[in-house]
Amino acid sequence: MKPYLLQTLKELALLGAIKNKIEISSQELARRLDTSQQTASRYLLELDKKGAITRELGIKKQLIQITSSGVEILQREHLQYQQIFELTDRIHFKGKVVSGLGEGRYYTEQSSYVEQFEQKLGFKPYPGTLNVEIEHIEKNKLRLLKNYDAVIVDGFENGNRTFGGVRCFRAKINGTNGAIVLPLRSHYSNILEFISEHFLREKLGIEDDDEVKIVIYFDK
Ligand code: CDP
Repeated sequence: MKPYLLQTLKELALLGAIKNKIEISSQELARRLDTSQQTASRYLLELDKKGAITRELGIKKQLIQITSSGVEILQREHLQYQQIFELTDRIHFKGKVVSGLGEGRYYTEQSSYVEQFEQKLGFKPYPGTLNVEIEHIEKNKLRLLKNYDAVIVDGFENGNRTFGGVRCFRAKINGTNGAIVLPLRSHYSNILEFISEHFLREKLGIEDDDEVKIVIYFDK
């Protein structure tokens, strides 16, 4: 997003346009952005085209509200500032327990993975992965992970199958130790896969749709 559009979005948010439709003229906005009315007007048009705001046009004023994708743009910016100022050694996620396709068990039982988990993370995982679906907005936080060192578990071949490498981050789920595993070759999804030496559903008394908290820790 171009800096001037981000700036405009921020001004609108400061005026309350995340929660409500706000009434503002391009003249007023121009004053706040220290620019001409024509320019401010153009910025709004661009934001509208990008789907970051919605507008209801009146004669002199317009009603403006920031859309969820506009909120996400601001949220990403916010996360970067958090990273700059808060020197985070951990990231918190909220999500809910979901069931997968039952593939986690198959993967986590491969002896080459198991050996590496034991060696590199210090525990033998209970077979399977507990899947946690994180809220859409929290997905942005996953992007921060690329800035931190992960524990790398190497891929391998077993018979005629290839198993890919995974990145692991030490983590806690509702206070219980384990790790998040992310395939090396895949895009961020909104599902976090958690491994632990414990059978988590039993130990934590959780089932599908229950809300859980995950904290990912970074070694520094
Ligand atoms: O892929 P799916 O969620 O169906 O299952 P899985 O990865 O094969 O894991 C088997 C079951 O154990 C699932 O219900 C997981 O949520 C659960 N599980 C757990 O409670 N604690 C773990 N440490 C690993 C898996």
